[in-house]
Amino acid sequence: MENYTYPNAILITAGHVDHGKTTVVHALSGAWVARHSEELKRAMTIKLGYTSIDLAKCDGAEFGVAPKYLVEKCPNGDIPKPYRKISMLDAPGHEVLISTMISGVTFVDAIIMIIDATMPVPQPQTEEHFLAASVMGIKNLIIVQNKIDLVQKDKAIENYKQIQSFIKGTWAEGAPIIPVSALHKVNIDALATVIDERVPPKSADMDKSPIMYVLRSFNVNRPGTPAEKLVGGVVGGSLIQGRLRIGDEIEIRPGLKMGNTYKPIITKVVSIAMDNVQLDEARPGGLVAIGTQLDPALTKADSLVGSVVGHPNELYPVYSSVVLDYHQIQRRDVKDQLKTNDQVMTIMGSASIPGIIKSIRNGNVEITLRRAVCASPGSRAVVIKQVGGRWRIIGWGALVD
Ligand code: GTP
Ligand code: MG
Ligand code: MG
Repeated sequence: MENYTYPNAILITAGHVDHGKTTVVHALSGAWVARHSEELKRAMTIKLGYTSIDLAKCDGAEFGVAPKYLVEKCPNGDIPKPYRKISMLDAPGHEVLISTMISGVTFVDAIIMIIDATMPVPQPQTEEHFLAASVMGIKNLIIVQNKIDLVQKDKAIENYKQIQSFIKGTWAEGAPIIPVSALHKVNIDALATVIDERVPPKSADMDKSPIMYVLRSFNVNRPGTPAEKLVGGVVGGSLIQGRLRIGDEIEIRPGLKMGNTYKPIITKVVSIAMDNVQLDEARPGGLVAIGTQLDPALTKADSLVGSVVGHPNELYPVYSSVVLDYHQIQRRDVKDQLKTNDQVMTIMGSASIPGIIKSIRNGNVEITLRRAVCASPGSRAVVIKQVGGRWRIIGWGALVD
């Protein structure tokens, strides 16, 4: 693995539909992450896309940091040296996919909020994604003012001021705002430099027992592959602590539903890949695909999304109903209080699970989940609900054991 460094941070895009999230990821990474046929057909991001950015710089030059593929040569003729890899998740902007965006926020070190310079600020999903970052306790925001190729200078300045007043008085006040044209790759080097400066390497605990949240799961075999050539099921996601190595025995929770309980899945790590590079070890910071010995029917079509992977008997408990130490969010346009029997979605780790409010008392909310979840007591859950036909974040809380 020549010249290869493991990603040491994870970012996620955020922002309103069509503001250019996927195009910014493309400008930074050189990769177009919307690959699913449905995504291509509808020109919208549906699942969490993922890729990585390779940052490069030139020795001894004032030359800043830039995506590796953007700089062909340094001012002195040298080839730029790639020196840092950062993982990148691309969130969908559409309102019905807010839970996908929130589950991505669980892993990340910073949020890249993309704002279309041609439109008034904030647009509805700009606001919703900002709220998602707030309730998930993210403290690192970088704002990209995109599509500056489409506006005159005075319009761009007016829009820039609107962005500033949107974050004024919030935890994000003073966050950097970088004007770019993602489509024409203007000022992408400045954005890369700010990302490099503002996003410190992750300080995850490598020596703890591994915990990986599953973001995707696949059957990678083409239809018609002969049985002896079938490859086992693959789970993709990110570790929040510890390491996984080839040969490790692993447990996946909640696992398979058997009547009223769940039976954890036990298997073995047979391969680890990141961006099509084979590795011996997975660590926090990267988005990895773990090959297992499982029947691929178990992992096909994202069936294990929301699960947690770790070493056997070292995972969090499994819950089929959860009690949250609940905080209602005050919103000017959402008056509705939470009531018993309300239908909600609860997002914990990479899982988003439909459920029903069973009780509300003494600041605690109990939710009966339609599927079980493996979750760490004390971890943060976000509750969303349909209000006026749209999914809105209405509250959050720590999981009470
Ligand atoms: P969703 O995933 O559906 O929320 O959209 P998105 O935010 O990922 O937007 P996407 O990157 O798909 O871009 C939406 C449209 O805006 C596409 O037609 C892009 O080509 C266009 N676009 C993105 N960035 C720029 C830009 O800097 N300038 C111009 N002129 N168009 C842009
Ligand atoms: Mg779109
Ligand atoms: Mg997109």
